[in-house]
Amino acid sequence: MNPAALERTQTTLRIAPLSATTGAECTGVDLAQLKEGEWERLVEAYHQSSLLVVRDQKLAKDAQIAFSERFGELELPIRKDYVGKDFAALHVVSNIGADGKPNNTKGLENPGNFFWHTDASYMKRPASTTLLYAIEIPASGGDTNFANMHAAYDALPAAMQQRIASLRAVHSWEQSRHNSGSRPASEEEKLQAPPVAHPLVRTHPETGRKGLYLGNHTSHIEGMDVDEGRALLQQLLAHATQPQFVYRHKWQPGDIVIWDNRSLLHKASDDFDMNNCARVLHRTVVQGTVPQ
Ligand code: SIN
Repeated sequence: MNPAALERTQTTLRIAPLSATTGAECTGVDLAQLKEGEWERLVEAYHQSSLLVVRDQKLAKDAQIAFSERFGELELPIRKDYVGKDFAALHVVSNIGADGKPNNTKGLENPGNFFWHTDASYMKRPASTTLLYAIEIPASGGDTNFANMHAAYDALPAAMQQRIASLRAVHSWEQSRHNSGSRPASEEEKLQAPPVAHPLVRTHPETGRKGLYLGNHTSHIEGMDVDEGRALLQQLLAHATQPQFVYRHKWQPGDIVIWDNRSLLHKASDDFDMNNCARVLHRTVVQGTVPQ
């Protein structure tokens, strides 16, 4: 093979662990033009570590969509104002207002992002994978935090594992809006996403690992007194988001973070100067299966 052809096919992909429980950093790869064998290695690392940070990408919106579709069918947001103007399945997380400048009101438009959650768990078939690509990032703050629900479940006392083994938590778009102090859900949104119960301990469909499945979209525990159920959910969330289970991602423009919502909770940090510093990311979400 001539040298130019060899360069086109030979991989330079390197994958290294990011933390003890979660994440792998991938460099030397172009997600818009994968070389032979790279997809398989990325998928293997994704299943092993639940999260990939892929550095130095230059992804147009259509290229991000095309790469995301390798994971499965993309989900359209419930919120109509989140549907991208040019591509319905790509929405822009941004604090840039209509005047083209950063502002706090725009940045806090969806306060739910600043609470621990797993994407679209208020749906019958919640998200499997989310891909978030950094366009503009503040010099300081605005990290995204990820908590590993397998490690958190494994660390629970056996008596608690037994107590919660067959419980089902009700997830609700309407309750989620209330939990995060967002504007109330519209009637149309409530019809589109009525409350749904999922196992509190779910088994990952690819790896078979058990993990807690909860977060800001939960309302209560099915068949349990509402207050008692909420107290249990709070107790488990406090356990599951302790520092030893958390990986905090400090963004660089060009990073794309790909995470498994069946394994991780996430939340953005609101500790950046929203009135003066732009934070813009492109987000695509892949539809998963019914949690078991
Ligand atoms: C999200 O919750 O999907 C967005 C997270 C972020 O803005 O860091």
